[in-house]
Amino acid sequence: DRTIKIAPSILSADFANFGAEIRAIQNQGADWVHVDVMDGHFVPNLTFGPPAVTAFRPHVTTFMDVHLMIAPVDAYIDAYAEAGADMITAHVEAGPHPHRTLQAIRATGKKAGIALNPGTPVEAVEYLLDLADMVLVMTVNPGFGGQKFIHSQVDKIARLRGAIGDRPIHIQVDGGVDPKTASLVAKAGADVLVAGSAVFKGGSVGQPEVYGANIRAI
Ligand code: DX5
Ligand code: ZN
Repeated sequence: DRTIKIAPSILSADFANFGAEIRAIQNQGADWVHVDVMDGHFVPNLTFGPPAVTAFRPHVTTFMDVHLMIAPVDAYIDAYAEAGADMITAHVEAGPHPHRTLQAIRATGKKAGIALNPGTPVEAVEYLLDLADMVLVMTVNPGFGGQKFIHSQVDKIARLRGAIGDRPIHIQVDGGVDPKTASLVAKAGADVLVAGSAVFKGGSVGQPEVYGANIRAI
């Protein structure tokens, strides 16, 4: 179905309270939990290894979507699958063999996603779509939360929707999603919206209703 799902990125959560933060966003209407994995090489920032994802797992009652911004990526797929990811998304730019990467994700039994950086055209994933449950269109250069939405990507989302046709493949958007940009990307054909700062801003674990209001505003 094409109903819009909201996937808060815990990159914007309180790093001393992940369990409580994950429970809070789910109680407040989050559909998925988005986990941003960064390696200090593919992107200029460092975040969560497999043990961190293992620690998040028991708190996730919805769906844990793990976005791997790491290269090379293939050697880590099994570890993130065992850590409890429901979906693993790798970047098409992470190496020369994204087709093999998607086969490896599928082999774990998890859902498979493929991500495109803002400079990468839709054509880069055209021959990967039959192995993908989701395509992630980055609307910022990956690495940090709180960056400005790149408007040229709206047209890319619409083209991607055309390339997907009637196949059951999600289009996820990640970066600078707020109430204004959310309606643009939804209109272009996206159905899973990642939001970090727009969900967590102004809130805290102690005031989860702020997260709820932020989620409903998207
Ligand atoms: C960026 C990450 C995003 C990020 C989004 O590299 O992949 O998931 O946390 O944060 P906002 O919504 O603040 O742009
Ligand atoms: Zn992400």
